[in-house]
Amino acid sequence: MKIAVLAGDGIGPEVTREAVGVIERLAIPGLEMTDALVGGVAYKATGHPLPPETLEIARASDGILFGAVGDPDCDSLERHLRPEQAILGLRKALTLFANLRPAKVFAGLEGHSALRPEVAGAIDLVIVRELNGDVYFGEKGFRTAANGDREGYDVMSYSDSEVRRIAHVAFRTAMGRARRLCSVDKANVLETSQLWRDVVIEVAQEYPEVALEHMYVDNAAMQLVRAPGKFDVVLTGNLFGDILSDQASMCVGSIGLLASASLGERETAHGTFGLYEPIHGSAPDIAGKGLANPMATILSAAMLLRHSLGLAAEADRIEAAVAKTLADGILGGDLGGSAGTTEIGDAVLARL
Ligand code: NAD
Ligand code: IPM
Ligand code: MN
Repeated sequence: MKIAVLAGDGIGPEVTREAVGVIERLAIPGLEMTDALVGGVAYKATGHPLPPETLEIARASDGILFGAVGDPDCDSLERHLRPEQAILGLRKALTLFANLRPAKVFAGLEGHSALRPEVAGAIDLVIVRELNGDVYFGEKGFRTAANGDREGYDVMSYSDSEVRRIAHVAFRTAMGRARRLCSVDKANVLETSQLWRDVVIEVAQEYPEVALEHMYVDNAAMQLVRAPGKFDVVLTGNLFGDILSDQASMCVGSIGLLASASLGERETAHGTFGLYEPIHGSAPDIAGKGLANPMATILSAAMLLRHSLGLAAEADRIEAAVAKTLADGILGGDLGGSAGTTEIGDAVLARL
């Protein structure tokens, strides 16, 4: 069993260290972890944010534990050299098209949500975000408009097959949960979304037990804070899913709590190949200060064990230890507490 560890930039290495410590403590026989450079650190060392050796190590693994990429020093580089291209490149090169972002309020943390406790307490949803298409991967560039202005453009598109495969993931996810699926789009304005909606309706025929509803993304953003407990599975595209998942994190309490799995169709010996990362970024504002909340990354490690290594009991142990740590009031600054990154990691270890 092989895990590729891609810590990246900013708080990436700080939070990844704690998650690796948790995996090591489980002493899983035959498990190997291999570090590789990614993001701004990789660019500075090799001239490329996703060096070929890193892609090889990632490909040769059963699962990738990813920290975060992004470095303000790199913001003026040509786009293909920017740190963010590493995560986009991994998702695309490894056909990791299904991004699962669960959001659930932890017992005892209802009062730490940005919402009223009675509203927050009902949250138990998963965002199924498409990851290989949309405006992220369309033709983009700069051109001269008719009036001589400089103009930037990014083409948004989805094809039938891209929507169909992510819709199946979402319907299967709903079948394993409360069987409610909300597909979020902007079909009142965008043809991309009209096609999305048509295909989701077609795929729904195969899942008669799932209650399907469609919602425009602006309304979804509103409903997510009005009555988040009404959502079970939220299916959406790359851009809308990116935005709604950061929003969902504050409904739960902090962006430092939300984990994610990015999956494709490749099977490993024990599960499905995938990449696992917190939904947050490299947080340059707090990097190097030992303040980052490592819970999202520790929970991502649990998802890796469950989905890619078939180690459900070990994943349960990690999740229980995280829940206990939070219930015991060991919270970082993001949740109004004073615990630092290593203190939180150590508290999880002590409860494993
Ligand atoms: P961010 O998620 O890095 O940070 C947003 C805010 O949340 C900041 O105030 C930060 O301090 C806080 N925060 C984030 N994670 C936290 C944690 N674990 N504990 C406590 N506080 C936390 O988003 P941003 O500031 O918009 O982006 C910073 C960089 O990260 C950019 O370069 C961006 O492109 C990149 N980014 C990368 C990923 C990724 O690697 N998958 C995801 C999002 C953003
Ligand atoms: C995320 C991030 C990435 C995205 C960026 C860094 C490319 O925001 O993983 O949520 O937009 O997908
Ligand atoms: Mn994001």
